[in-house]
Amino acid sequence: MVSNAVPDHVPPEMVRDFSLFTSPAMQRTKNGDPHLAVACVHDGPPIFYSPCNTRDGRGTWVITRAQDQRRLLQDTATFSSHRSLFASALGENWPLIPLELDPPAHGLFRSLLNPLLSPKRVMALEPAVRERAVALIDMISASSTSCDVMKDLAFPFAVSIFLRFLGLSDGRLDTFVGWGKDLLHGDGIKRIAAARTILAFIDELAAMRRKVPADDFMTFVVQAKVDGRPLRDQEIRGIGVLLFVAGLDTVATAIGFDLAYLARNPKDQELLRSEPGRTVLAAEELLRAYSTVQMIRVATKDIDFEGAPIRKGDYISCATMIANRDPAEFECPNTIDLAREDNRHTAFAYGPHRCLGSHLARREIVICLEEWLSRIPDFRIKEGTAPITYGGHVFGIENLILDWS
Ligand code: HEM
Repeated sequence: MVSNAVPDHVPPEMVRDFSLFTSPAMQRTKNGDPHLAVACVHDGPPIFYSPCNTRDGRGTWVITRAQDQRRLLQDTATFSSHRSLFASALGENWPLIPLELDPPAHGLFRSLLNPLLSPKRVMALEPAVRERAVALIDMISASSTSCDVMKDLAFPFAVSIFLRFLGLSDGRLDTFVGWGKDLLHGDGIKRIAAARTILAFIDELAAMRRKVPADDFMTFVVQAKVDGRPLRDQEIRGIGVLLFVAGLDTVATAIGFDLAYLARNPKDQELLRSEPGRTVLAAEELLRAYSTVQMIRVATKDIDFEGAPIRKGDYISCATMIANRDPAEFECPNTIDLAREDNRHTAFAYGPHRCLGSHLARREIVICLEEWLSRIPDFRIKEGTAPITYGGHVFGIENLILDWS
């Protein structure tokens, strides 16, 4: 944990008692609405300093306006993504690729990886995605009239799609779900153990695909070249780990927040069930209203940004859940309108680091909602239970027990 004293260069009047980690609505709360709680920052100044706004307790500047976030995220020379977050937890120093690289290195890897998750590739994956969603939902509905959506559907679904992407069967699904949970939600020791296990698995898979190539992601990576040379082992790790972590909690919590919303809003639930053609547009609105990712950048030099004296080394937060509730960008931002058009949300970020997996994520979410609504009748939150929400770098929901008895 680092000290969260406010640095001397931050004017006291720019400090605000707000944090995606420590504010009350960000704690694990029954029936909480962390997105609405965050939206209140728009009543205040467009940029402020939060003294404790990362998992390890660092202070960050907080950019609230969507327009300012877009400007900042484009300026990668001043606002760097280089942090080695995953590796530093292991006492090492290598980047997640391409997430923690800045241009020009970022562009080299991004162009290499773009085709792997292009709309065309995602279309080819779609039958497998649908088949997984159907299998999980059928299993749930065959055995009960209620379930914990996060445990029984959302998380295993997201992990299973990652396994398909790697060219692996679901044989070890439970093991991978366990690794993912420990890595993303375990305590310090569990998290580090899971990180080491995942690295060992990626190394092993890379070695196997070098010996016996297959038609899959890892074979592509071990055979790929950047700048005319093969990838180094650490680069392969940086790509493999990122693809594992990037698509788990993000997709699972999006499905969780969407189904929680529909459980509480039976009219919208019925609308999508009777007119499934509306699901694509509705999913965009739910991505906007329930955005989950806070992006962090590090200043590479001193700069005054919209009146804030940012100094080299300062952390800056561009939280998608804040930008996507900006009243200057969206009419009635706290109203969820499943037919909202012209929805320029930034749930998948903006600029060079725009989510590489957004096409896949969108299809996963829409397919899961379509299949759930066509198979599960009128559902609600089970009486006597309350979903628990929490804040952080990725907002989450747990214990979402739905009932359709
Ligand atoms: C609803 C689901 C998802 C959301 C909301 C989401 C959101 C984001 C955001 C906000 C970023 C930018 C992070 C930053 O710049 O600091 C990002 C980057 C990234 N995402 Fe996603 N993501 C989702 C699903 C996925 C999936 C399914 C995959 C892969 C299979 C994926 C792979 C990536 C990668 C590789 C990057 C780094 C891109 C780069 O640095 O150029 N994401 N995502």
